[in-house]
Amino acid sequence: MALRIENNYPLKAHNSFGLDVLADRFVEYSTEDELREALNLASGWDGPLLHIGAGCNLLFCGDYHGTVLHSANRSFEVLEKAGDTVLVRAGSGLDWDSFVLQCLENGFFGLENLSGIPGETGSSAVQNIGAYGVEVCERIERVEVLDVESGQKRVFAADECAYGYRDSIFKRPDHKHFIVLAVCYRLSTVFEPVLTYAPLSRMSPDGLTAMDIRAEVLSLRSSKLPDPAVLGNAGSFFMNPVVPLSKARALAAEYPDIPQYPATDGFVKLSAAWMIDRCGWKGRTMGQAGVYERQPLVLVNLGGATGEEVLSLAHAVIDSVYDKFGVYLRPEVNAIHS
Ligand code: EPU
Repeated sequence: MALRIENNYPLKAHNSFGLDVLADRFVEYSTEDELREALNLASGWDGPLLHIGAGCNLLFCGDYHGTVLHSANRSFEVLEKAGDTVLVRAGSGLDWDSFVLQCLENGFFGLENLSGIPGETGSSAVQNIGAYGVEVCERIERVEVLDVESGQKRVFAADECAYGYRDSIFKRPDHKHFIVLAVCYRLSTVFEPVLTYAPLSRMSPDGLTAMDIRAEVLSLRSSKLPDPAVLGNAGSFFMNPVVPLSKARALAAEYPDIPQYPATDGFVKLSAAWMIDRCGWKGRTMGQAGVYERQPLVLVNLGGATGEEVLSLAHAVIDSVYDKFGVYLRPEVNAIHS
């Protein structure tokens, strides 16, 4: 395989909002050596560098005047089998849901609740994707990265990644120089269903298979979330805010039905969807950007929206939730200006 280098490259197929923007350069690599070669070349080019996955958490606010890098490493290897577990290594460019399916087809369990999440395995380890009672950090054993500054490969054990809700060390500004090469997941060869999340808790564990959970999760997702191929979106645009217990108590006194979920000690996670809904945003539009009518956490491109339009809508939502509840919503989606 050789490096793929494109100039003035359309990014529409590389961002799930479906925004029609161009990158000055787009470079796709398949191996660690190719990545080093790409970085070497890019050091002589103008403009910044942006490494993307499937572009499911990005909002391009205009053309990207720099170099966009993407991994085409879609390898899948079983590194070891130990007792009832396996260690599976996935190249960072492997489509997340194909990976989940491949694991299940091999009888490797633990990721079935994360079925249907758009994106790639590399981003799963950066974002700490989570849904339906499972966070991927519970299944990650280590993350292999290339340090762009030193050119050295480095391996982070999961407990060095500072995993939290939708958070990892790789999201911090001082750790942006690490590019994920591959992720190793510790999975089980014995199926143990996780049915803690309310809609799944209705399923009977008797005779239940991991494929049944996958089917239920895919059906739940399609009932709530728009398909990016039909209506551009980046899933939850906002994170669920985590607030001090005192703030949560004050809100519960004023709004007795406000959903609250456990978080770390002394903190409570609130539902951004609920607050946005109570501010009356469901189904509202600004230009060609809209708040999805079935899940107000999701902002959608109604067709031909610009990144700036989506961002203006996001700011209007943030302001109104702050005015009503005194809670600041943080976007989960990264706005890219260049
Ligand atoms: N709600 C409303 N109005 C609505 C929808 C929801 O008031 O129109 C309230 C309900 O009270 C509901 C609560 O919001 O109980 C929470 O909704 P939901 O269970 O759908 O979960 P979520 O907090 O909206 C999170 C993740 C999703 C993930 C689901 C399932 C975040 C930011 N989002 O959503 O992740 O699929 O849980 O686990 O944590 C994503 O990251 O792109 C994503 C979709």
